[in-house]
Amino acid sequence: MSKPARLGVLVSGEGSNLQALLDAVANRSLAADLAVVISNKPNVRALARAERAGVQAVCIPHREFATREQFDHAVVRALRAHAVDWVVFAGFMRLVTDVLLDAYALRILNLHPSLLPAFPGVDAVRQALDYGAKVTGCTVHLVTREMDAGPIVAQTAVPIAEDDDAEQLLKKVHEAEHRLLVEAVGAACEGRLEVVAGPQRSRVIVHPRGSDERSPL
Ligand code: GRF
Repeated sequence: MSKPARLGVLVSGEGSNLQALLDAVANRSLAADLAVVISNKPNVRALARAERAGVQAVCIPHREFATREQFDHAVVRALRAHAVDWVVFAGFMRLVTDVLLDAYALRILNLHPSLLPAFPGVDAVRQALDYGAKVTGCTVHLVTREMDAGPIVAQTAVPIAEDDDAEQLLKKVHEAEHRLLVEAVGAACEGRLEVVAGPQRSRVIVHPRGSDERSPL
């Protein structure tokens, strides 16, 4: 059997999605090595979650760098030092530059709390609620230069009840995210993602488990 893929998870805060990955690795529903967790903010709960699980937890405070590029160089050094194959943005609240994008081209997954391309950017759950949408959800996509616009890997829909407030809806979206992220990261680690060129933009095919087709990713 081939060696499990090595993950580098980037976080900025609570880390409930990181926890879903940690739990899935621990209970073997995700065949991956969690090589390193990197936070751009000190003292966040996500770092404590990593430490508790015995995973390398590194803080690289973005405020200590003069430019986004310099920060990204430090992140790439840390990812390479841990021989990371796939990078996962799990609540990582920083815009990244070509430094990171080129180092891990089509190897970075981002989790976003809406059904992209609807409601990109910050406060996506609040945006959906304020818009009066009847359905929202969450998306895992490959990270490219455009924010929240890379090829979609997986999505889950979450219905919005008439009486949902922001807190209730956020809870439902988070629950959906925890399942979706594990599923999408698993597909990436198992080499089941294939990027194909389309007429306007690239898209991702997720091959089923056990299929013969193997991705070039
Ligand atoms: C998630 O809703 C994710 O979609 C967004 O930030 C949130 C992070 O939550 N990008 P957590 O830190 O994983 O609990």
